[in-house]
Amino acid sequence: MSWGITTKTKPIIKLISISFNRLSRDDIDSIVLIEQQNSHNPWSKNQLIESILNPANLCYSISMKNKIIGFLMAMRTLDNADILNISINKACQGKGYGNKLLHYLIKELKDRMISQLILEVRASNQAAIDFYLKHGFEEISLRKNYYMNNSKHPNQKEDGIIMRLKF
Ligand SMILES: CC(C)(COP(=O)(O)OP(=O)(O)OC[C@H]1O[C@@H](n2cnc3c(N)ncnc32)[C@H](O)[C@@H]1OP(=O)(O)O)[C@@H](O)C(=O)NCCC(=O)NCCS
Repeated sequence: MSWGITTKTKPIIKLISISFNRLSRDDIDSIVLIEQQNSHNPWSKNQLIESILNPANLCYSISMKNKIIGFLMAMRTLDNADILNISINKACQGKGYGNKLLHYLIKELKDRMISQLILEVRASNQAAIDFYLKHGFEEISLRKNYYMNNSKHPNQKEDGIIMRLKF
């Protein structure tokens, strides 16, 4: 005799393939699009290429099903690294991909004996500030009027907040 269990809810198995890769010049068109979606003052194509090609930089993409959905660029100094840019495709934001990409960078930095990350963020970019605070960054200083173009008031300057994470 066999026993069967019937249920109205079926198990849902979600297989989402996420991968991380070193950015190359060939990725430029994908990341230009993401950069333009997300920034009031987007980096130009040339600035993005220069950053990818700079040997001091660690530049990674996060892809879902082989399509780039975000990127991160960091610059190595002696025993620090600075986040220069992090951006996730708008449609994919708030789903944990920025978190995965940041953790990937931290793993790569630990492998290189780097134990501190620094960044600068516009004072108006509350979503990014919340993202960094959630990951343990602390505010360490303020650069008054650092940005020429305020993202909300175009004729005013904007403060930059310096944040640091030790790991
Ligand atoms: C900042 C950014 C990289 C975060 O990546 P993400 O994939 O959206 O973030 P995650 O889903 O991994 O992390 C979510 C956390 O970030 C914060 N966050 C992300 N988007 C947010 C939003 N729109 N509003 C408020 N908080 C937000 C929250 O703390 C959130 O935690 P919660 O889900 O528990 O509320 C991404 O939103 C982005 O590309 N923004 C535009 C570019 C940018 O501002 N870059 C930073 C320049 S310094």
